[in-house]
Amino acid sequence: MYIARTITELKNHLAQAKNIGFVPTMGALHDGHISLIQESVSRNLYTVASIFVNPTQFNNAADFEKYPIDTEADLKKLKTAGCDLVFLPAKAELYPSEVADQKYIHDFGKLETTIEGAYRPGHFKGVGQIVHILFECVNPKTAFFGEKDFQQLQVIKRLVKLIGADIEIVGMPTIRESDGLAMSSRNRRLSDENRAASVLLYKALTFAKANIHIMKPSQIKAEVQALFSKDQWLDLEYFEILNPSDFELVEEINPTNAHAVIAAYAGDIRLIDNLKLV
Ligand code: PAF
Repeated sequence: MYIARTITELKNHLAQAKNIGFVPTMGALHDGHISLIQESVSRNLYTVASIFVNPTQFNNAADFEKYPIDTEADLKKLKTAGCDLVFLPAKAELYPSEVADQKYIHDFGKLETTIEGAYRPGHFKGVGQIVHILFECVNPKTAFFGEKDFQQLQVIKRLVKLIGADIEIVGMPTIRESDGLAMSSRNRRLSDENRAASVLLYKALTFAKANIHIMKPSQIKAEVQALFSKDQWLDLEYFEILNPSDFELVEEINPTNAHAVIAAYAGDIRLIDNLKLV
């Protein structure tokens, strides 16, 4: 497995590679990330992962500073999974100027301002910016993203259309712990109490799935809010049932297309999850 630290090293090494499969990450890798690498490898793609904790997508400075970093362990996991190349750039490689290059700043419309975007202003602009920069560096045929970041996946699909890139975007199912908690790099910072309580996010989603045909979305939401208000370890930020095609909230009972999304704080750690209901 080759490690490239500069864009020049990366491009030199990729010059001969065809059919690149790309998995951008912020490191602290877990089985969810590894499933993306394995999917790329199983498609016989030359598999490139990047590890870069992107400052422009953090709307909360403390979250950025505390973001877990474990590069040695990450490299071992990537090698074992069959990754061919890891791009490990320093900030100055990707952001040579403190002033943002407007070429990489995109307007994702409602997708960046609603639900998750409303609680994390600027977050999806930063995601679009870094993913566009990385796509230019790596020039992949296919790129893989986890469905756990449901809205991010839609933003990336929109990005590819906006920039007219011929890149197939593949969303991969969320990988869960045995109790249902969605795997996330931030989970490793949870205290034992918060870790135990965090299963409530998945319980809320499965409750919604079980009841979507018999309860109104507003009733489901009220039940979920009640569940969280009884829990001393978690603070619900939002729970919504939306139509994934336009991100409009679903109001009617027994909808034909509905997805539940949730965000909650366990202490200072923000957790998100989502589930297709119909
Ligand atoms: O999902 C992530 O880890 C990040 O948002 C991404 C796509 C690597 C961009 O920094």
